[in-house]
Amino acid sequence: MARAIEAFEATLTTPDSRFDRLLAGQDSLDAEELHGLSLFVDKGCIACHAGVNLGGQAYFPFGVVERPGADVLPPTDKGRFTVTQTASDEYVFRAAPLRNVALTAPYFHSGQVWDLRQAVAIMGNSQLGHELDAREVEAIARFLHTLTGRQPRVEHPLLPASTAATPRPE
Ligand code: HEC
Repeated sequence: MARAIEAFEATLTTPDSRFDRLLAGQDSLDAEELHGLSLFVDKGCIACHAGVNLGGQAYFPFGVVERPGADVLPPTDKGRFTVTQTASDEYVFRAAPLRNVALTAPYFHSGQVWDLRQAVAIMGNSQLGHELDAREVEAIARFLHTLTGRQPRVEHPLLPASTAATPRPE
């Protein structure tokens, strides 16, 4: 059963985002989105949200520079610390991969932030100590929208009808 579920999950890929097309050499992003991409790189988001999935490989403290408010990071949720009981893991979380992020609100472990722009602004302050202005936030959010890929279509298999020979649940 685990194998079957794994095989199914392996089909849940979301290829062909506009960002993928850019990586493949196409001219698929407009000027504003490209500006957002350069900000994403130049401001340092890429340090934690790196690689082909823009994150997902490593854990980092949430609040490297400034711990977000209790509404966004509840003081009782200490992240990795709960697993490792190591002081340096307090408030350490996995840097979420950002593919399809425009579709996956609410944001952060607390799920308290529903607006992608607000999540970007919080990251600027808490992780980079950098107050992004409204235009920078907008451009980065526009770039993040280009990470939305083709969503998988899941077709449920039509199971054969039960017969007298079909085993009954025990
Ligand atoms: C020092 C590492 C680090 C840097 C730099 C960083 N992030 Fe993050 N980011 C994280 C971590 C860790 C989380 C997960 C926090 C949580 O789940 O509570 C996260 C979460 C996010 C989320 C929410 C994803 C979700 O699905 O909930 C977004 C959006 C995001 N980051 C965007 C950015 C942007 C844009 C920048 C640059 C302005 C940035 N990050 C810089 C570590 C970082």
